[in-house]
Amino acid sequence: MSEAFPLPLEALRRRPDVEDPTLQAYDATDLLLVERSLEEIAAAELSGTDVLILGERHGAITLGLAASGLRGMSVYQDRLAHERALEANAAELGLGGSYRQLSDVAEAAASARLVLWQLPRQVGAVRRTVAELAGVPSGALLVAGGRVKHLSVGMNAPLAEGFGAVEPQLAQRKSRLLLARRNPELVLAPAPEDRAAVSVGGRRLELRGAAEAFGGAALDPGTKLLLETLAARGGMEALSPASVVDLGCGNGTIAAWAALAWPAATVEATDDSRDAVASATASLEASGVAGRVRVVRADGGDHLAEASADVVLLNPPFHQGGTVHTGIATKLMRQAARMLRPGGTLFCVWNSHLRYRPRLERLVGPTEQLGRDRTFTVTASTRRG
Ligand SMILES: C[S@@+](CC[C@H](N)C(=O)[O-])C[C@H]1O[C@@H](n2cnc3c(N)ncnc32)[C@H](O)[C@@H]1O
Repeated sequence: MSEAFPLPLEALRRRPDVEDPTLQAYDATDLLLVERSLEEIAAAELSGTDVLILGERHGAITLGLAASGLRGMSVYQDRLAHERALEANAAELGLGGSYRQLSDVAEAAASARLVLWQLPRQVGAVRRTVAELAGVPSGALLVAGGRVKHLSVGMNAPLAEGFGAVEPQLAQRKSRLLLARRNPELVLAPAPEDRAAVSVGGRRLELRGAAEAFGGAALDPGTKLLLETLAARGGMEALSPASVVDLGCGNGTIAAWAALAWPAATVEATDDSRDAVASATASLEASGVAGRVRVVRADGGDHLAEASADVVLLNPPFHQGGTVHTGIATKLMRQAARMLRPGGTLFCVWNSHLRYRPRLERLVGPTEQLGRDRTFTVTASTRRG
């Protein structure tokens, strides 16, 4: 399959996403999406501006089409690291300017005659995006796909209810495409708001979810242990940090808690996912602390000055796409060390089997265990001077 692919796939890189010999910058779904879309482009005589690409990662779909001569494709990406990887790969392959980046799916729906979609894993995220595709014109083809192990039959329902009858294709190389033609009579109602009211670490928080945001509106069990441990520990108020960072904020639980626990502090919440930023913003608003927290879409804290934070709070991801990988946690720990002032503290919660303590000692400084349950460990690392 890849011999006929229009792009030298080995030239694609993942940076600034984690790079590692075990992680690829493309998968079989990308290849199937490009191959099937080139057939449709030839058959329906489409141009690049007719194409809308969703769920693009490091650029295999967009640049596969660009290398076939297409220009002007519209691309929507949730993660900033993916946006930057696509941009860097396009520049390196001499394909810069071959596509336009969207900040909103609905923006390009009305002009799309072909929609290519690397499906997210959450049915809720599929549902939300299908609702945003209501403006796609009659007869447009949707080519959606994913790794077989990540597709669920539950995804067919929002696709069929909101777009058109779904034709699943035979699986190839453990990936499968789902095809549907736009039936304009179908319009999926937006999903009800994902919300939860929780009490954690002595504070009441109102959480809000958004499609691809980690865990939706739910309180993460690791985060729960982190905040309960900090609340139970004497002297937290005396810590009185002036600046606090919630690194990888997801739905904003930690930032909202920190804003309430340290009323004099400036709190910064960052995440590289658009949906996480939307979800954190809504949670902070609903918890009454929106004015106290700045939410920024960023790759970790690369926009924050060195030695500018007194406290960093981190519940790092341990997945890289579908693979369990510690690279992203290491990258965020390094960033925490960079943004902490000497003597500042990184409070971190992690799955105990990952044994992060030596890594925290090496990257940040002396590390003490504050709490532990059957699954997670909470640590405090003091930034060495
Ligand atoms: C385990 S979740 C924790 C979410 C949230 N802090 C909580 O406690 O529920 C990790 C978060 O890190 C975010 N993330 C992953 N890579 C990131 C990066 N390079 N920069 C910023 N955030 C990132 C993910 O989007 C996700 O929201």
